[in-house]
Amino acid sequence: MRAMVIDKYGKVPMRLAEMPAPEMEDYEVLAEIHAASINPIDFKIRDGKVKLLLKYKMPLILGNDFSGVVVKAGAKVTRFQVGDEIYARPRKSKIGTFAEYIAVHEDDIALKPKNLTFEEAASIPLVGLTTYQAFADILQLEKGQKILIQAGAGGVGTFAIQLAKVMGATVATTASIAGTDLVKSLGADEIINYKTEKFEDMLKSYDAVFDTLGGESLEKSFDILKDGGKIVSVSGLPNARFAKEYGSGFFKTLLFSLATKKLTALEKKHNVQYTFLFMEPSGEQLRILANYIETGKIKPVIDKVFPFGDAQKAMEYAESGRAKGKIILKIK
Ligand SMILES: NC(=O)c1ccc[n+]([C@@H]2O[C@H](COP(=O)([O-])OP(=O)(O)OC[C@H]3O[C@@H](n4cnc5c(N)ncnc54)[C@H](OP(=O)(O)O)[C@@H]3O)[C@@H](O)[C@H]2O)c1
Repeated sequence: MRAMVIDKYGKVPMRLAEMPAPEMEDYEVLAEIHAASINPIDFKIRDGKVKLLLKYKMPLILGNDFSGVVVKAGAKVTRFQVGDEIYARPRKSKIGTFAEYIAVHEDDIALKPKNLTFEEAASIPLVGLTTYQAFADILQLEKGQKILIQAGAGGVGTFAIQLAKVMGATVATTASIAGTDLVKSLGADEIINYKTEKFEDMLKSYDAVFDTLGGESLEKSFDILKDGGKIVSVSGLPNARFAKEYGSGFFKTLLFSLATKKLTALEKKHNVQYTFLFMEPSGEQLRILANYIETGKIKPVIDKVFPFGDAQKAMEYAESGRAKGKIILKIK
């Protein structure tokens, strides 16, 4: 099958390769991929930036979510059959959606929302699950609460604004002029132009922050929270609590603990909770998201669809960090 691969870590372009078709295990289905989305994790993996958390063998097919059709079901698969239209974020040990086929565990899959095209459906799994896990599992966001969503115009942000509104929250978000109309159309209540305004001077007594930026923005987020507030970050540093839950050994846990000393001090100073989230695959949660989508509560937001042959161009566009919504590869 055709696939986009890397042969080693580093800023080297992906190459189009002929790879063996994936081997399927009993609890897996073989899916023909119709579309995949590009996520920053793809170039972070390529660059070797997440080696402490994820280890891969080379050559590696990149790509972390997709939509497609089941063409074969393993002997122990009970919930899917040949012909089902599905979408998924495969488990982290079995990525590789920039390809014509993939074997995926049935627990990681859900039926594709019926009202979406394959390209639209491929835009959802990774950002949708990330946001759902941040809001429902960690923040336990409630009606009437106030949340700041950083980078509202991005792949994660465009989904997050919509889910926060579905959950009844009041949403402030940061965007440049180029993203303002988009975030407004998605329901953002307050829009902060991050190029000319400082969110930390404009917001106070917030219940929650969804941080997609890390660094200084994350540190400043502590200032806008009320006592007992919560921050969930997908771009900050993993702390010792995360490392323990993730099963990192003693040295990695110590490393993360030292690297996040400042965040731990800020947690104490402001009496708020900081959680680093590394999203997990979940077919069950994708079924919940499909329901929001089929009832029209959440819509896919797509910046651009690239043909498979232009996968490297699509990756470069994603790396520019300027996308408004999601970048999609059309594979079939
Ligand atoms: N830990 C996890 O499990 C997990 C899961 C998903 C994503 N992530 C991480 O979350 C981050 C965001 O992902 P994404 O897919 O949303 O990225 P993305 O789509 O590439 O984000 C691009 C958007 O960010 C906006 N932006 C850039 N700098 C900004 C700033 N300083 N303030 C406000 N907006 C800014 C840009 O707006 P303008 O062009 O208008 O400036 C653009 O619309 C990435 O670092 C990704 O790795 C982590």
